[in-house]
Amino acid sequence: MPAAKPPVETLTEAQASEELAWLAKEIGEHDRRYFEEDQPAISDADYDALRRRNLAIEQRFPQLVREDSPSRRVGAPVSERFEKVRHKVPMLSLDNAFSDEDVVDFVARIRRYLKLDPDAPVVMTAEPKIDGLSLSLRYEQGRLVSAATRGDGQEGENVTANARAVADIPNVLSGNPPSVLEVRGEVYMTHADFLALNKRQEAEGKQTYVNPRNTAAGSLRQLDSSITAARPLKFFAYAWGEVSEMPSDTQSGMVAAFERYGFHVNPLTVRCSSAEELLRQYHTIEEARAALGYDIDGVVYKVDDLALQQRLGFVSRSPRWAIAHKFPAEKATTILRGIDIQVGRTGALTPVARLKPVTVGGVVVTNATLHNAEEIERLGVMIGDTVTVQRAGDVIPQILGVIAEKRPADAQEFVFPTVCPCELRTPVVREGIGTGGEGVVRRCSGEFACPFQRVEHLRHFVSRRAFDIDGLGDKQIEFFFNDPDLPVRSPGDIFTLAQRDGENIKKLKDKEGWGSVSAANLFAAIENRREIGLERMIYALGIRHVGEQTAKTLARAYGSWKDFHDAAVAVADADAQAREEMDALDDIGDAVIDSIAQYFGEAHNRDLVENLAGQVEVMDAERPAGDSPVAGMTIVFTGSLERLSRDEAKAMAERLGAKVAGSVSKKTDLVVAGPGAGSKLKKAAELGVEVIDEDAWFERVGA
Ligand code: IVH
Repeated sequence: MPAAKPPVETLTEAQASEELAWLAKEIGEHDRRYFEEDQPAISDADYDALRRRNLAIEQRFPQLVREDSPSRRVGAPVSERFEKVRHKVPMLSLDNAFSDEDVVDFVARIRRYLKLDPDAPVVMTAEPKIDGLSLSLRYEQGRLVSAATRGDGQEGENVTANARAVADIPNVLSGNPPSVLEVRGEVYMTHADFLALNKRQEAEGKQTYVNPRNTAAGSLRQLDSSITAARPLKFFAYAWGEVSEMPSDTQSGMVAAFERYGFHVNPLTVRCSSAEELLRQYHTIEEARAALGYDIDGVVYKVDDLALQQRLGFVSRSPRWAIAHKFPAEKATTILRGIDIQVGRTGALTPVARLKPVTVGGVVVTNATLHNAEEIERLGVMIGDTVTVQRAGDVIPQILGVIAEKRPADAQEFVFPTVCPCELRTPVVREGIGTGGEGVVRRCSGEFACPFQRVEHLRHFVSRRAFDIDGLGDKQIEFFFNDPDLPVRSPGDIFTLAQRDGENIKKLKDKEGWGSVSAANLFAAIENRREIGLERMIYALGIRHVGEQTAKTLARAYGSWKDFHDAAVAVADADAQAREEMDALDDIGDAVIDSIAQYFGEAHNRDLVENLAGQVEVMDAERPAGDSPVAGMTIVFTGSLERLSRDEAKAMAERLGAKVAGSVSKKTDLVVAGPGAGSKLKKAAELGVEVIDEDAWFERVGA
C-alpha cells in the first residue's frame, strides 16, 4: 500500500499532535456514519488505514494519546431507537495488521510480553474476519434471553426480538451448555441474498442498501421484527462474553463447543503455531474469498490458550492476544477539482482535495485529505488531474497518486498560500523539526489574532469533553464571535453573556436564529457549567499537546486549580524545580511541559486564564479510588524482572489502581527492583522510597 502521508518516524511531536487531533475528529465522524446511519462514506480499508495511522502515531508518542482518541473507544454512541443494554463483559474491537511484517511483529510482541522461551510454540487460531455486524447472545439454561448489538462496546442495543427471528440463531441450545452463556459472533448476509433483497426493495420503491454489511445491520435493527424475520440473515459464532462454566480452556475448544450447542462456526478456522503458518492460512483464505459468497475483510488471529489470553489482557479498545490481518484497500479514480485550505485550532493549514464524486466500494467520495504541502508535492498533483483514491473504513479517503497520461492541458499547479486565508492575511510559518530543517506543518502566525484560530479555540472550549455547553455548538460560537452586540472573543466572555444581555434577555431573543426560549436555555446551560472539574478546565484551555488524558494526569497530580496554575506559571517562568516535578508525572515529557510553559508565558493567555478563572469555580480533582494494597500509589519498576515483562508488570499495577512512572522522584511510593537495577535504586535510597523485589511485589498484591 503506497504511503500517502509522511512516515510516522519522521513526524515531529507537534505534527503528530496535530494529526492525532484530526484523526480523532475524522474517525469519529466516520464511526458515526457507519454505526449510527449505517451509511458509511468510505471503504473499510481506508478507515483501517486511518485507525492504524492513529495507533502508530500514538505508539511513537504515547504522551499525545488523546482522551477522545479512536483507540480508546469502539464504534459510535448507540442509536436511540432501541433500549440500551449494558454488556457485562465489554464488546471490544481488534487491532489491525496490514502486512506480513505486522503479523510477524504481532507474534513477536506476544512472545516478548509473555517472556516465552525462543523455542516455546505459541498456538494461535486463524479464521476469516466476517464483514457483518457483531452481536452478543445471552442464553440462560440453554434458552436465548437477550441479544445486543455492540453499540459503543459498553452499551449496545437490545435487539432480542429480532435475533429470535434469525433462523441461524438457535432459540434453544443443544449439547448441555453452561447455565449462563453469552455467545458472540457476526450477523451477515450472503451476496446472493443481498442482491435478491435489493432487487425486491427496488421493485417496491423502497430504500436499497449499499452493501451486504449495511443490509445485515439495517435488517437486524428493524423496530418491526417481522421485517427481520423476512430477511435471510446468517450468524457465525466466534467469541463469548459471560460464561458460568467454561466448556474449554482454548479458543478453538470454545468454538468447537459452540458448534455442539447448535451454532454455525466458520469452517476456514485452523490452528497454527508460527507467524509463517498464520500467513499461509491468510493466503488460503484470501484465495477462497471470491468463492465464499459472503464478505470477509481479513483474517483474525487469536492466541489459542485462554490462560495466555488472560495474561495478555487488553490495551485500550483491543486485546493483545488477537489481531485482524486486513485485505488490501479498495481504489478508484476521479478528478481533482480543487484544493481548499482549512485552518485548525493551532493554526495549522491543512489542504483538502475536492473531488468529482466517485463511488469507491459502493460509497460516494467527494473529498480527500492531502495533509500538507509536501504531500501535494510528493504526489505531484495538479488541479484537474485524474487521481487514484483509496478509501478504507468510514473516513476521509486518501489520494494515492496521479495518472500522468490523463493530465489535461489546462491543469493548474496548486500554490500553497504563504498567508493565512483569514482576513488578517498573516504570514504562514513552517515549523522547525529540530534538525535544522523545516517541518511540514504550515501554521498561521497570527495565533490569537487569527480569527480562524480564535473561533477554533472557542469551539474547543465549549466542546463535549471540555465545558460541554448545550446549545453552544460550532455555529453559535461563530455567531457570537462575529456579533457586535454580544461578542464572545475569549472563553470568559461566555460567562458574562447573560449579564451583558441585561435582565430580560433583551438583545439575544431578537436576533436571527434565536428566540426567548432558546436564549434562556443557553444562558441556563452556561450557568450550569460555572462549576467545572479541574481536568475539564485544564483540557478546555486548548494547550497544545494537552489532550484529555494529559489533563487528567495533571489534574490528579496537582489536585486543585490553584496548585496547577501555580505550577504552570512557575514552569513558564523557568522554575527548574517546578519543571522537574511536572516531568516526574507519568506520560508527561518535554513536549507537554514546553507547551504549558509557552502557553502560560504569553501575557494574552495569562489574561484569558485569569479572566476565565474569575468567572468559574474549578472543583478539585478526585483521587483515584480502589481497595488494592497499591491503589493510588506511584510505582517504578526497574532492573530486569524474572516472571513478568515490563509491559505486563505495568499493566498489572495499573489494573490494581496504581500509577507507573518511568523515573523515581519525591512522588514515588514504591520501587520494584530486579537484578541490574542502577541509578533508580540509588535515587530511591536517597529519597527514602521503599524498595522491594519481584517476589515481594507478588506477595504484596496477592498474585
Ligand atoms: S474476535 C475481543 N473474530 O471484527 C475481540 N471478530 O474489528 C473479539 N469480526 O467487533 C472479536 N469476524 O465485529 C472476531 N472471526 C472474528 C471476526 C470478528 C468479524 C468483527 C467483530 C469485531 C470486529 C473487530
